[in-house]
Amino acid sequence: MQPIIGVVGLGTMGLGIAQTYAAAGCSVIATDAFAPARDSARARMAEALAARVAAGKLTADARDATLTNLRVVESLTAFAPCALIIEAIVEKPWAKQDLFTQLEAIVPPTTLLATNTSSIPVATIAATAQHPDRILALHFFNPPTAMKLVELAPHAGTSEAALATARSLTEAAGKTVIQCPDRPGFIVNRCARPFYGEAFALLEEGRSAAEVDAALQAAGYRLGPFSLIDLIGADINLAATSGMFEAMGHHPRYHPFDALKAQVASGHLGRKTGIGFVFPAKPAAAPADAATLTERIEATLINEAAWLLSEGGTTPEGIDTAMKLGMNFPRGPFEALAHHGKARILALLAALESAAPAHLKTRYLPAPALDTE
Ligand SMILES: NC(=O)c1ccc[n+]([C@@H]2O[C@H](COP(=O)([O-])OP(=O)(O)OC[C@H]3O[C@@H](n4cnc5c(N)ncnc54)[C@H](O)[C@@H]3O)[C@@H](O)[C@H]2O)c1
Repeated sequence: MQPIIGVVGLGTMGLGIAQTYAAAGCSVIATDAFAPARDSARARMAEALAARVAAGKLTADARDATLTNLRVVESLTAFAPCALIIEAIVEKPWAKQDLFTQLEAIVPPTTLLATNTSSIPVATIAATAQHPDRILALHFFNPPTAMKLVELAPHAGTSEAALATARSLTEAAGKTVIQCPDRPGFIVNRCARPFYGEAFALLEEGRSAAEVDAALQAAGYRLGPFSLIDLIGADINLAATSGMFEAMGHHPRYHPFDALKAQVASGHLGRKTGIGFVFPAKPAAAPADAATLTERIEATLINEAAWLLSEGGTTPEGIDTAMKLGMNFPRGPFEALAHHGKARILALLAALESAAPAHLKTRYLPAPALDTE
């Protein structure tokens, strides 16, 4: 018999997470504190599945089987038989702690409790638990049904058995699970920061958004940093950057550049407002020094990944896979390092440091993993 999966919170992420496990044949018990979210969940999932049937990507039988596997309930007491419960509720530490406290009174100590948090330390969420050894993060990407990557993060007290079970249940649902430490932004949201940040450094030095994007596209990136911000929203990007800047003690590697703040203040947030850094213009031709621009951005991507590696709990291969799946990058930072060579990257970082304004100097300090590898 397939294990039973619980999902709490049926918003953007929770509904997609529920669909992911239901499509893999698991029984899914799901709820939301907001009655309209519960009442509409089945219809919203049916709509998402209908679009896949219409596109020829799913059979009607598979759609029906997925919907049959979903059981929306009103009360948390129905979660008692779950092997794994994933919360995708509001991003507030107290709300997640309170939910897990309620669930611990209902489920046996063997039930795994996973958080889909983007920014709260797993250790904080586990701090009030009776059995913190079964608490971990399973961080899905949006939309969870389409994005293959799931980051798996333990806190210091998570048991190996809990990690292994969470991994195997999620891999069985078709995901690529990459383990990482309980550090701000896990892998992708942290290691992606220089993709945007260094692009802003170039913008503030007088390069245009269109030529930076064209350079990265010529190097195989599906979208340049500014087009990606236009897609996601400058306000969302600023919130993510500012969150990392706070969480990492205002380190200049996460500096929120004035150009980004000014863009948000202007209201030109990207596709959703009709104007962004590049949108609605078409991609420009790559500038003559496209390779130099790409190398500079990749040097800082490599350095950030090497800093994370230095902190332990992950591997170069794991970071590469996460960045390719989570960001659609054509190569991971350690593959880029192998391509450019360590000496070249260290030389680039040194040159960037000597040219940087005083407040950004330590932005380019090479990670220990780069100095010693
Ligand atoms: N949206 C993303 O791109 C994304 C990506 C990765 C992780 N996350 C994380 O996933 C979580 C959910 O995000 P979302 O975008 O799906 O939010 P959302 O606002 O779309 O959905 C949250 C749902 O949780 C419900 N809810 C709130 N408090 C609850 C509670 N105490 N008990 C039961 N239900 C409750 C709300 O009614 C709502 O339906 C957050 O922790 C967020 O940081 C979001």
